[in-house]
Amino acid sequence: MNILNRPWKMGTLEIKNALVRSATDEGLSTEIGAPTQRLINVLAALAKGGVGLIIAGTAYISRQGRWGNTGTGMDNDRLIKPLSLLCRQVQKKGGILAAQLLHCGSTVNPTMLHEKKSLFGPSKMDDPVSGLRVLELSKDHILKIVDDYAKAAMRAKKAGFQAVQIHAAHGYLINQFLSASRNWRKDQYGGSPKNRALFLYNVYEAVRGEVGKDFPVFIKMSAYDGFHGGVMPQDAVQVASDLDAMGIDAIEVSAGTPEGAKKGGWDHIIPAPFKEGSLLKYALQIKEKVNCPVISVEGWRDPLKVTKTLEKIDAVSMSRPFIREPDLANRWLNGDLSTALCISCNKCLDLTLKSGLGCIFHKRKKNENA
Ligand SMILES: Cc1cc2nc3c(=O)[nH]c(=O)nc-3n(C[C@H](O)[C@H](O)[C@H](O)COP(=O)(O)O)c2cc1C
Repeated sequence: MNILNRPWKMGTLEIKNALVRSATDEGLSTEIGAPTQRLINVLAALAKGGVGLIIAGTAYISRQGRWGNTGTGMDNDRLIKPLSLLCRQVQKKGGILAAQLLHCGSTVNPTMLHEKKSLFGPSKMDDPVSGLRVLELSKDHILKIVDDYAKAAMRAKKAGFQAVQIHAAHGYLINQFLSASRNWRKDQYGGSPKNRALFLYNVYEAVRGEVGKDFPVFIKMSAYDGFHGGVMPQDAVQVASDLDAMGIDAIEVSAGTPEGAKKGGWDHIIPAPFKEGSLLKYALQIKEKVNCPVISVEGWRDPLKVTKTLEKIDAVSMSRPFIREPDLANRWLNGDLSTALCISCNKCLDLTLKSGLGCIFHKRKKNENA
């Protein structure tokens, strides 16, 4: 058997191959967070293209936790119906679809600033990237956010998503709690690495409590924030192993924060140029300490290298290659083992912000609207 085609299990969920679409903000939802037909088309094309697991781009758990104004919402029961249409269309094409839950904390897309009357984070400070004033979350506010995660997870389940991923990477709220450079709290949520992880553990437990033990809950985490004082690899390994003991169903290992890029020039999250499997070593450090499946993200382009890597890890995930080639999985699985066509130019980032997910190598159809 071609190892790319190896099935694996995330909790109770059977996934037909080892290729995962890493969450990719599509920027294709309406102002209230409902999916547009274009978003359905994008995700259905990935399903048709054979990828084992599709993680949809971030879905915000509350309006205050929105990163951008074209993201998908999981903050309101009225979205369950439109989201269930999305799930049905993707599943009809054979896709397995997960929702990624996000509160962005003080890391926001600049176009959102008009809406954000105040930015919140673990501690009162000037945001180290934007310089904007950040207010400290009160204990009650933290408990409310934990509850928002749980309710959002339940909405995802009700809508028909087959798993939820907690976004704990890339400098957003959970990552901010984990990082000593952002979290100066003196209460139970700050101080030692274990205390800084308490918010994440509370979120995980609340989500699990809401969706039940048979519904897959997994995480995307940063194994290294990219500078001394942020999340360090040894902290990340500890967090991963605690979550594993608590029953998490899989861990996707990423790295990098906007703060790391600014302070240390450590430009991960969406690096251009890419380096093949650039974060694998962190995924392997975590793999050694956990029983649950581990997914390695970033820079996977060469199927031969992916094949070798799958001897050591459960699955690899990709973002940009699937923007350029939604049918990449089927291409590789059917034996065309040439490298992904994506050149990691990152023009997809600008396009997504401007007009929704796209690639400069694609022609948009005339009259294609959101
Ligand atoms: C347009 C775009 C949007 C992204 N949106 C998200 C997102 O919503 N959530 C997330 O965790 N990562 C997001 N990412 C990061 C990717 O999931 C992935 O970690 C990163 O691009 C590295 O993988 P790659 O080299 O395969 O692109 C995004 C990346 C791109 C290019």
